[in-house]
Amino acid sequence: MILSRIWSLLLLFFITEAEILDFDDHTNEACYTCYCSADLTSVDCSHRGLTNIPNGISLKVTKLNVSNNEISSFPNNLSNLYNLKSLDLSGNLLNSLPENALQNLTALEVLNLSRNYFESWLSINPNEVLKPATSLKILDLSKNKFTTLANLANQELLISSSLETLILNSCEINSIHGRSPLSGLISIRVLKLNNNPLLRIQNLISSTLKSLYVSNCQLSYISHNEFAYLPSLVYLQMSYNYRLQLSSTSNALFSNSLRYLDISYCNIFRPNLYGFPNLRKAVIKNNMIRFLKSIEFINNTKLEYLDLSYNNIGSFKSDTFRGLSMLRYLDLSWNEIAQIPEESFIEMPSLTQLKLARNYLNRVGHIKSTSLSILDMSSCEISIIGKDSLEGLPSLIDIDLSHNLLSYIPDSVSSNTLKYLNLNYNRISSINNVTFFMLPRLSGLSVIGNRFTNIWSKTYFNSNLYLERLDLTDNMWRCDCIDDNMYDFYEFVTLEPNKKEESFNLICNSPINVIGQTWLEACYFHWNPTEKARNVDNLIWFLIVMVVGLALCLLLVNTIRRTMKRRLGAIQAERERQVEEARDRLRQLRIRAEQEALCNTPDPRDLIAPPSYDEALSMPKLNASSHSLNETGTGKTKRRRGRRKTKSSGDLLEETERNGDARVFDDIELTETSNDNNRHRRRRNRRYGSHEINELEQSPGARRRRMSEYNTLDDSVTVEIETEVERPLRPRNRRYSDENQPRESDF
Ligand SMILES: *[C@@H]1O[C@H](CO)[C@@H](O)[C@H](O)[C@H]1NC(C)=O
Ligand SMILES: *[C@@H]1O[C@H](CO)[C@@H](O)[C@H](O)[C@H]1NC(C)=O
Ligand SMILES: *[C@@H]1O[C@H](CO)[C@@H](O)[C@H](O)[C@H]1NC(C)=O
Ligand SMILES: *[C@@H]1O[C@H](CO)[C@@H](O)[C@H](O)[C@H]1NC(C)=O
Ligand SMILES: *[C@@H]1O[C@H](CO)[C@@H](O)[C@H](O)[C@H]1NC(C)=O
Ligand SMILES: *[C@@H]1O[C@H](CO)[C@@H](O)[C@H](O)[C@H]1NC(C)=O
Repeated sequence: MILSRIWSLLLLFFITEAEILDFDDHTNEACYTCYCSADLTSVDCSHRGLTNIPNGISLKVTKLNVSNNEISSFPNNLSNLYNLKSLDLSGNLLNSLPENALQNLTALEVLNLSRNYFESWLSINPNEVLKPATSLKILDLSKNKFTTLANLANQELLISSSLETLILNSCEINSIHGRSPLSGLISIRVLKLNNNPLLRIQNLISSTLKSLYVSNCQLSYISHNEFAYLPSLVYLQMSYNYRLQLSSTSNALFSNSLRYLDISYCNIFRPNLYGFPNLRKAVIKNNMIRFLKSIEFINNTKLEYLDLSYNNIGSFKSDTFRGLSMLRYLDLSWNEIAQIPEESFIEMPSLTQLKLARNYLNRVGHIKSTSLSILDMSSCEISIIGKDSLEGLPSLIDIDLSHNLLSYIPDSVSSNTLKYLNLNYNRISSINNVTFFMLPRLSGLSVIGNRFTNIWSKTYFNSNLYLERLDLTDNMWRCDCIDDNMYDFYEFVTLEPNKKEESFNLICNSPINVIGQTWLEACYFHWNPTEKARNVDNLIWFLIVMVVGLALCLLLVNTIRRTMKRRLGAIQAERERQVEEARDRLRQLRIRAEQEALCNTPDPRDLIAPPSYDEALSMPKLNASSHSLNETGTGKTKRRRGRRKTKSSGDLLEETERNGDARVFDDIELTETSNDNNRHRRRRNRRYGSHEINELEQSPGARRRRMSEYNTLDDSVTVEIETEVERPLRPRNRRYSDENQPRESDF
């Protein structure tokens, strides 16, 4: 059910899709190869390796990007795309434009033809090509190889009534010549000629041109009236012309319209801005200016921003900046200024920001300006700051004295307006409760990287009601946790809502046991005694638990050991009992056997008379020593021999005896032989040699018994007795018996 529904949905989806595709068939193809925006107004075909514009681009397209392809001749049928506003053909292989290239592209505003292979102006039909594009505002032809910007007999003249921005950066243009090449561009406002090997700018005539970019152009000289024919020029960017100097005073370059001038990274020895009475912003940094003479900027009454940083300015006069009544920003940093004439800035009523960083000033003071609010005197080797240093600066709000050599701040430096005091990276080691006493507006104080050791007191800031921010990082704070002041100050600094510093920036440097810890880490237990107690409690609890655990463990181990022992003991006892039992049984058996024997057999030894001396002599000699005759055979070797013998049928008795129960047979024999007690005792102490046993065994009527001995390994007792009584007892037919006499079992 559900499946079929899904199927139908899918089907529906495909149908609709197909319909859409069907409906807008001609967009299909282009949007396969290119990225089309949802409303088809933007088509991006960049980096597709195309040699021509793809077919079937929607007529709605306003932005077509075919950059970075392999198009070598201008696409001849863009003419339909009358909605096109932006055409990017940069990064292709074009080297010419047909006259009617932009036919019908009346909406086109931006044409980007940069990074192609145009070399001559003639090949792009400059007179005609832009005419149909009546809305064209921006033409980018940068990174081509035009080599000149010329107008000889008007043939190379680019003509467009609408074009406002012509970009010719990096075009290897080395000269501008002929009658003004801009004369065909009656609306031109921006001309960019950056990165061309231009030596001079000349022949530029345009009543409309406002911005001229000639950065990095190898310019070395500009004749003083060069901008006279650019009456609308407002913005001039001439930086990075490493050889460029401005003409001298008598012949100063002039432009009444110029407002913005950037001649940084040039070869300027003298600012020479006299000719720019309307200049608003001048950037002259990274030049070679060594000094500034009197009334250097007297004609720049409208100047608002002057950057003279990164020069070699060693001195200036007290009236150097006279006339700069509109100047708001003056940057003199990274110069070699050692002295600031006292009245230098007094006649600049608008000056609010002064940068003097990285000069050779050794003291604060001597600067007087009623308007100055931001003063940067960082990295200046300043070692002295006077109590009244800031008194000449009644509007000062922010002073940066970082990276100096200050080791001491006098009591009661006073300023009614100062809000931000940056004393980072100096050598200050102490302040007191009157240091900032006269800075009622102080709201941000930064002393990163100084040499403070004693923790401050919040009383130091009793009169700084607006204090919002303290930067205390990177000092050598000695954390004396017992001192209440430290806690008070810590709270003062870090407690919301008047937090002034992150607590992790407050690091102890001594005593040695807390180096590198934050104040809080170092003093946590001093400041939170309950926490400490709790912690001690925890410790105690931990110890108790440990001890109890250990005891339990020991108990357990002991119990186990004891049970094991007991069980082993029980087993042992059981074994012993069994052994005992076995013995008992054996004994009983033996007694029974004895009794039987008593009834049935006389002692065979009684039947055999001992051999006479002569007989004994005639007996065969023993192989073994006489000693071996007395062995009862409990040893292992004996035992083994005995075992071997058990293979034959007849020697069980012998074996049993050898295995250690000789006494049994001894007893049997004794009881059998006689009831005489004395004899019994005598004989009992004697042990029979095995030969005698054999003799017994071999004697007619001897019983054969087999008894298996008690097996300690199996923990069991097997007693087997085989009794065979032969009747009638035959008299002994052998008068002697010998162990080494061969018997049937040995064969
Ligand atoms: C451009 O011309 C080709 C034929 O040369 C044609 O197939 C294509 O659709 C045209 N493109 C446009 C955008 O009209
Ligand atoms: C065209 O595409 C290139 C590369 O994707 C991009 O850098 C460029 O900005 C695009 N041009 C326009 C006009 O969006
Ligand atoms: C220019 O557009 C018009 C319609 O706006 C059309 O009739 C004419 O053929 C187009 N010209 C070219 C060269 O495509
Ligand atoms: C033209 O395209 C280049 C990239 O090829 C780009 O850097 C440049 O900004 C574009 N010009 C304009 C006017 O958009
Ligand atoms: C200052 O500018 C005026 C015009 O505003 C001009 O007449 C005068 O010569 C300029 N002074 C110098 C020293 O160039
Ligand atoms: C500064 O502290 C000293 C004691 O160290 C005290 O006598 C004096 O009144 C304090 N001054 C202010 C302004 O708090």
